[in-house]
Amino acid sequence: MNILVTGAAGYVGSVCAAELVKQGNRVVAYDNMSAGHRQAVGARVHLVKGDIADTEKLRRICKRHHIEAVMHFAASALVEESVRNPHLFYENNVSGTIALLEVIASLKIQRLIFSSSAAVYGEPKRVPIPEDHPTDPVNPYGETKLVIERALHWYHQAYGINCAALRYFNAAGATPELGEDHRPETHLLPRLLAAASRPEGRVEIYGDDYPTPDGTCVRDYVHVLDIAQAHIRALHSLSKLGSRIYNVGHGKGYSIRAVVKAVQEVTGRKLDVHVGGRRPGDPAVLVATARKLRRELKWQPRHSDLKTIIQSAWAWMQRYPKGYRN
Ligand SMILES: NC(=O)c1ccc[n+]([C@@H]2O[C@H](COP(=O)([O-])OP(=O)(O)OC[C@H]3O[C@@H](n4cnc5c(N)ncnc54)[C@H](O)[C@@H]3O)[C@@H](O)[C@H]2O)c1
Repeated sequence: MNILVTGAAGYVGSVCAAELVKQGNRVVAYDNMSAGHRQAVGARVHLVKGDIADTEKLRRICKRHHIEAVMHFAASALVEESVRNPHLFYENNVSGTIALLEVIASLKIQRLIFSSSAAVYGEPKRVPIPEDHPTDPVNPYGETKLVIERALHWYHQAYGINCAALRYFNAAGATPELGEDHRPETHLLPRLLAAASRPEGRVEIYGDDYPTPDGTCVRDYVHVLDIAQAHIRALHSLSKLGSRIYNVGHGKGYSIRAVVKAVQEVTGRKLDVHVGGRRPGDPAVLVATARKLRRELKWQPRHSDLKTIIQSAWAWMQRYPKGYRN
């Protein structure tokens, strides 16, 4: 298949693009490079620098490469930033995606996979969270993902776009070549591993007064390769799916302190943990049930136990100590 991958120079998009190529697809990466890395795009992926809001360019590229499916990762994705600057998130994640959808609909591209997020749920009323749990985002980031999920339902009905929205929980881990390098890095695991590679090992965690057993936030970590497999399975089932929503999570929750402990075990380094204030927009617990994904798409997370995740991310960081700056 000829597949357009938006945001393919970013963390999750680059891994998915590489897996799609391995399976024999032709992949066009479309990224404005606002947070992407040239080095994360493999030699067999055709990279186009462009913004999803640029409908003329998008249309041209889709036509030129006979695009049959779109995987849409491009987004602004820092939760804290969304609380400070919601406008950026509505502009990029909502207006930008609507522009992309306009092109997809007008070219009659009928397959779309959308990167949604566990942030659509807000503070869960029950855990693990199933897809039919009420959605009530506690930050603008989650709200923008929800707006698009709802739009996809109507776009499917009106324009026949078959789509799957994948609500990932915490993407983590690396392949030997591709890893996580956000700037600034707000995600727990790369921050802990960066601290483990510094002599003093100092790291700040955000809040230990949450209503959880040890007071720190509990999250569900899912390996980026397992997320890629969820995309590929969803893509192959799209014609019979219509418009669907799936959680992508491992189903196990780990507190921040539990992840700190596991990082110390895997790396053999001692971390000097300081507790700072809570970050705005952080729910206390986010743990998925991915039963629907397992049942309907026969998805199996193969890399998502915490130790494997940490080992893979640590190996990548050892290989690329300066991330993609090398
Ligand atoms: N990383 C996670 O834990 C996680 C969890 C849930 C959902 N998601 C979602 O998955 C997707 C990928 O996340 P990520 O961690 O890989 O993010 P990332 O920031 O590493 O990658 C996003 C990519 O999109 C590009 N981009 C942003 N705006 C663009 C635009 N207007 N036009 C073209 N390209 C643009 C950036 O340059 C970047 O390369 C996002 O939609 C994010 O919301 C991520």
